[in-house]
Amino acid sequence: MLCKICIFTILLATFGTWGTWAQLCIPEPVETIELNASTLSWSSSDNCEGTQYMIIIRSAGIIEYEYTVDSLSLDVSFLKLCRRYSFTVTPSADHILGLETSLDSGIALPEDTDIVVQNFTGVQIGEDVLIQWYVDENFTNCITYYHVLSWHEDTDTPDSLYIGQNGYLVEHVAQCMNYRFDITVHYNSVNGTTAQFNYTVPEKTNTPTLVELRQGSSQINTTWSLEKYSLNRCNITALYVNGTHFNQTYEIVDAPERPDVLVSITSLRADTMYYFNVSTENTAGVSPAFLIAVQTLEIDPSVD
Ligand SMILES: *[C@@H]1O[C@H](CO)[C@@H](O)[C@H](O)[C@H]1NC(C)=O
Ligand SMILES: *[C@@H]1O[C@H](CO)[C@@H](O)[C@H](O)[C@H]1NC(C)=O
Ligand SMILES: *[C@@H]1O[C@H](CO)[C@@H](O)[C@H](O)[C@H]1NC(C)=O
Ligand SMILES: *[C@@H]1O[C@H](CO)[C@@H](O)[C@H](O)[C@H]1NC(C)=O
Ligand SMILES: *[C@@H]1O[C@H](CO)[C@@H](O)[C@H](O)[C@H]1NC(C)=O
Ligand SMILES: *[C@@H]1O[C@H](CO)[C@@H](O)[C@H](O)[C@H]1NC(C)=O
Ligand SMILES: *[C@@H]1O[C@H](CO)[C@@H](O)[C@H](O)[C@H]1NC(C)=O
Ligand SMILES: *[C@@H]1O[C@H](CO)[C@@H](O)[C@H](O)[C@H]1NC(C)=O
Ligand SMILES: *[C@@H]1O[C@H](CO)[C@@H](O)[C@H](O)[C@H]1NC(C)=O
Ligand SMILES: *[C@@H]1O[C@H](CO)[C@@H](O)[C@H](O)[C@H]1NC(C)=O
Repeated sequence: MLCKICIFTILLATFGTWGTWAQLCIPEPVETIELNASTLSWSSSDNCEGTQYMIIIRSAGIIEYEYTVDSLSLDVSFLKLCRRYSFTVTPSADHILGLETSLDSGIALPEDTDIVVQNFTGVQIGEDVLIQWYVDENFTNCITYYHVLSWHEDTDTPDSLYIGQNGYLVEHVAQCMNYRFDITVHYNSVNGTTAQFNYTVPEKTNTPTLVELRQGSSQINTTWSLEKYSLNRCNITALYVNGTHFNQTYEIVDAPERPDVLVSITSLRADTMYYFNVSTENTAGVSPAFLIAVQTLEIDPSVD
């Protein structure tokens, strides 16, 4: 029983292979492969009938795409610009493969492409600001470097930076400081159109700190220091002293020096506790209050 099946199989196998043996045709390799902007094309392999072509596209040695087609060209517009690929074309006829032909080529950036940065953002991280920008993602492999010129309010000559990534950290910025950035993309030995951006560090209130306190029997003198211009240049307009028994407003014309502010509260009663809050107002609004409680001195009987 087993043997009958064996013989039948052998016969079938023999006749089967003998049948194709007569027509066995190994397709000749394709002679040329060409790549223009978006199309891979190759010469035909003509010696067999019904020849098909297997296309393998590798990048850095790894197979990324594989196709089998009847035509003599393939649309490869989906490949990434400025990346190198290896293309192999292997003809096949009736499941018999011929020899492969290869082409190594980069995908060229079309002539007159202008790469311009866009979507500029600035994010404050502590005392620093992270500046970032983007280019159309089709072009990311093409960029050699970015050239950044940056100015702030106090500079006439800009800082000039050549950087490989699409952003950098601007360190120790001052609140309300204005910056200007000119960013140019360098690629294929040309420069794209320069894009210009302005950025202002977000405003923040300016909390005063007490540097000196002098008490008398009818007076309290306090001296207040303001956050320096180098840290916070949001324009200060006033300093408020709000107490249960007095309110005073000191108008301030802001200047880079930011001198300390002397607050003198007079006509007070001797030996009395006074509570008051000191705050400043700048373009960001009124700062949190500095709370203070001060006792006036007893009247000195020796002074009369
Ligand atoms: C690329 O080749 C294809 C087919 O050969 C042709 O249709 C197309 O116009 C060519 N494109 C360019 C930019 O030369
Ligand atoms: C830029 O921002 C726009 C809108 O927010 C978005 O559609 C676009 O994809 C962004 N472009 C890049 C290159 O990130
Ligand atoms: C980027 O590639 C996509 C897909 O190929 C295309 O639709 C788009 O127009 C391309 N963008 C630019 C700016 O060439
Ligand atoms: C591109 O800009 C750089 C400065 O960023 C300059 O040195 C170079 O000459 C420019 N190249 C071209 C081709 O304009
Ligand atoms: C940036 O600011 C400068 C002066 O403050 C102004 O002339 C320029 O038009 C601004 N640029 C942008 C892109 O807003
Ligand atoms: C407070 O300041 C005023 C004016 O500067 C001064 O005359 C007075 O003596 C000071 N009082 C005290 C207690 O320091
Ligand atoms: C700051 O405020 C003063 C007084 O209001 C004003 O004269 C000055 O121009 C302001 N400075 C800036 C840089 O806004
Ligand atoms: C001082 O500030 C505190 C908290 O901000 C508030 O509760 C208090 O009423 C203020 N005192 C005066 C005199 O404004
Ligand atoms: C001072 O101003 C605060 C509010 O800012 C108010 O509650 C208080 O009554 C005022 N004190 C006097 C003596 O006017
Ligand atoms: C102090 O008084 C001024 C003026 O009335 C007010 O704008 C400010 O908010 C007050 N400051 C505090 C800390 O209450």
